[in-house]
Amino acid sequence: MIKAVRGTRDLLPPDTGLWNFVEQKVREVFARYNFQEIRTPVFESTELFARGVGEETDIVSKEMFTWEDKARAASEKTLSLTLRPENTAGVVRAYIEHNLEKTGLLQKLYYIGPQFRRERPQKGRYRQFYQIGAEVLGPATAGSELPIRDAEVVEMLTALLDAVGLKGWTLYLNSVGCPQCRPAYNEALRVALADVKDKMCGDCQRRAETNPLRVLDCKVPEDQPYIEALPKIADYLDEGCRQHFSEVRAILDTLAVPYTVNPRMVRGLDYYSRTTFEFTHGELGAQSAVLGGGRYDGLSEQLGGPQAPGIGFAIGEDRLVLALQAQQAVAVSPLKAFVAPLGAGTNRHALKLARELRAAGVAVDVGDESFRLKKSFETAEKLGAAYVVLVGENEIASDAFAVKELKSGQQTTVARGALAEFLGR
Ligand code: HAM
Repeated sequence: MIKAVRGTRDLLPPDTGLWNFVEQKVREVFARYNFQEIRTPVFESTELFARGVGEETDIVSKEMFTWEDKARAASEKTLSLTLRPENTAGVVRAYIEHNLEKTGLLQKLYYIGPQFRRERPQKGRYRQFYQIGAEVLGPATAGSELPIRDAEVVEMLTALLDAVGLKGWTLYLNSVGCPQCRPAYNEALRVALADVKDKMCGDCQRRAETNPLRVLDCKVPEDQPYIEALPKIADYLDEGCRQHFSEVRAILDTLAVPYTVNPRMVRGLDYYSRTTFEFTHGELGAQSAVLGGGRYDGLSEQLGGPQAPGIGFAIGEDRLVLALQAQQAVAVSPLKAFVAPLGAGTNRHALKLARELRAAGVAVDVGDESFRLKKSFETAEKLGAAYVVLVGENEIASDAFAVKELKSGQQTTVARGALAEFLGR
């Protein structure tokens, strides 16, 4: 038997109903906040992620699906390509490639789609997973650097999670400084690590030299006491970063968005500057981060583009759906009615009625005239229909239909013209 590849999975009904519900709700919220959709390719040049996300990150150094795409003609080059492990680098590449800075406006873009990382699969962690993300970026003259943008993005996230019905999340907030103040922090980390790095894992030993901030991503349990004792970034922020962060917090306070400052949270990608955040959820166990994001003011220049400060986030849709399933709070709109033809020659009348009901916006399914009444009711029940509509000889002759509500067992006769409204109530 051929099975889905390790770390990938099929999403089947009825679960896909919840995925559709989530995507529909977030699209509504994005529209209210004036975000528009962007779709970028699922694979890009490897270089984009190496330069954008950072060579020393776990994502780039261990987790990418990369292959060599052989030239097929003299006019082509052999390329190193990678399935996107995240979508921010792709969005910024598109921003640069299409000269979106020419509009002079903030670009408010969202995306929904698969991402790929070769991580060790477990509950809430897959090699193909889905993100719902958004990015706000543009020239500084459009206000892209200002704390109000950070606060608005975080506040929108609370609206997104509300709209899908997720309760019980925790928001962690931090500032990771900027290229002006980060070197001093990196130096402090390097000095502190010099004494202990020999007792730490190979990754930490290497990163202590190449990119000390990434030591904070280490998950090796034996290394944690050393990491706990390292200097904290909050003590190294320069005046600009300190003020920016305090303004973001002041706006969130005014909006009554609850958060906890977590000075250890540096996020696993190199492009962040200043504000970073994560929302966690208790139902998710070890993979508790339901979403993460932050500001990436230098990323566009890093990729060869114009100055384009930005901030964004990505929700792990797999994890959001798991958390919603755990709290069982969401009722996904069920099938309204099962139309049951009764006896020879009734199929075409049943399908005609179903066609009218569907055209009127009512979700219905149809049985078959070979079904006994009992089988029609059993099928309707299994499908989760609210009503069964009987289409027998009498109904056809009188143009009024026996309608049975499955939950209460109540039966009524409803005229054809009134049926859609009756079922749609
Ligand atoms: P990230 O923290 O790497 O950030 O991923 C965001 C979210 O994607 C995580 O919080 C998690 O819910 C989900 N996720 C990540 N890896 C997996 C996996 N293997 N299986 C299931 N879910 C996963 C980013 O990707 C940034 N691009 C976010 C961002 C946008 N920052 C600024 N703009």
